[in-house]
Amino acid sequence: MSDAAVVGATLETGSPEPEAATEPRGVLEVDDVAVEFDTDGGRITAVDGVSLHLATGETVGLVGESGCGKSTLARAILQLVPMQRGSVRLEGTDLGALPRRELRRMRHRIQMVFQDPRGSLDPRMSVSTLIGEPLRVHGIGDRASRARAVAEAMELVGLPTAVADRLPSELSGGQQQRVGIARAIVTDPAVLVCDEPVSALDVSIQAQIINVLDELRDELDLAMLFIAHDLSVVRHLSDRVAVMYLGQIVETGTASEVFTEPRHPYTQGLITSVPRADAESAARLQTARRLVLGELPSLLDPPSGCRYRTRCPYADDECAATEPPPEAVDHTDGLHSLRCHHWRDIAAGSGARPSSNSQEHAP
Ligand SMILES: Nc1ncnc2c1ncn2[C@@H]1O[C@H](COP(=O)(O)OP(=O)(O)OP(=O)(O)O)[C@@H](O)[C@H]1O
Ligand code: SF4
Ligand SMILES: [Mg+2]
Repeated sequence: MSDAAVVGATLETGSPEPEAATEPRGVLEVDDVAVEFDTDGGRITAVDGVSLHLATGETVGLVGESGCGKSTLARAILQLVPMQRGSVRLEGTDLGALPRRELRRMRHRIQMVFQDPRGSLDPRMSVSTLIGEPLRVHGIGDRASRARAVAEAMELVGLPTAVADRLPSELSGGQQQRVGIARAIVTDPAVLVCDEPVSALDVSIQAQIINVLDELRDELDLAMLFIAHDLSVVRHLSDRVAVMYLGQIVETGTASEVFTEPRHPYTQGLITSVPRADAESAARLQTARRLVLGELPSLLDPPSGCRYRTRCPYADDECAATEPPPEAVDHTDGLHSLRCHHWRDIAAGSGARPSSNSQEHAP
């Protein structure tokens, strides 16, 4: 992963545009994407104005609580759910504007690795047939070149040739996920979207699969969107991190910036094991951490203004009245940005004003 690739990509949150968008915008350009669903309780906006750009060879980690919209965003990027607004451009092509047939043709350049490998593998197909299937579906190559591509993909993900004729049920969980990854890379994609790729696996296997993804990213120069609950894994794999809350990205920056200097109160709450230089800021992080445990508001009735305000210890009237726009952290040339009215005061230690939220949630 080159520094140029990191610097060359931007990641923003909704409209209005952040202060420091830079060119080039990347192999994957997601702009102001919104996804709505009709539910029994009414219409929800599961993804609300998300923008993110990935450069070739770059991994962006996407984190946030269950239900915040990570999988929906991933599915929208792959055009698997309709978008209410926004655009997804893959290598410069607007996927949403493509006729269905053209979209199918582009799909081999963006692939997905799913959480549950078993659910995504046809139990009647052998390993080699499963891995070769995307090539056949997309009409790529002839029989001989497809066989070579399958063998190469198996080698890249560490599957021995001996398992080529086996069925998924004859494989371990780790091997099944290697098949899932091999299916995703066999079409030579530019972008890999991994949605919780190791959550369903035994802890002992998780590190192996993470290493496979890490090596593939470098070897194939993939842009990778990596969704995970485990923040240590995200930190290990990601060049940049995007933190999602109730359908929006609330903070984004390089992994080192976000993990060592989280600015948004929500991110501060998520990141518990951050080394802090002084006791006072460590105590503030602990307070924020406790508050994240408060109840997640319903998407049917999201809070006015800042969506995090019902759980934020620093919330005031401005937070209830006005949605904070994305704002760049001063010294980071736009690579680190967040949505919070008071982040400067909070960073300076003067933002810890008493709020009703502190009373409600602090133990
Ligand atoms: N097909 C659907 N129809 C209606 N609501 C949906 C649908 N898919 C997702 N949702 C809702 O959209 C919201 C976002 O869900 P999503 O699965 O994207 O969250 P997530 O961040 O991936 O959560 P998790 O970490 O649990 O996987 C949730 O409120 C969910 O119930
Ligand atoms: S805008 Fe207000 S409520 Fe939202 S995170 Fe910042 S201080 Fe908290
Ligand atoms: Mg999900």
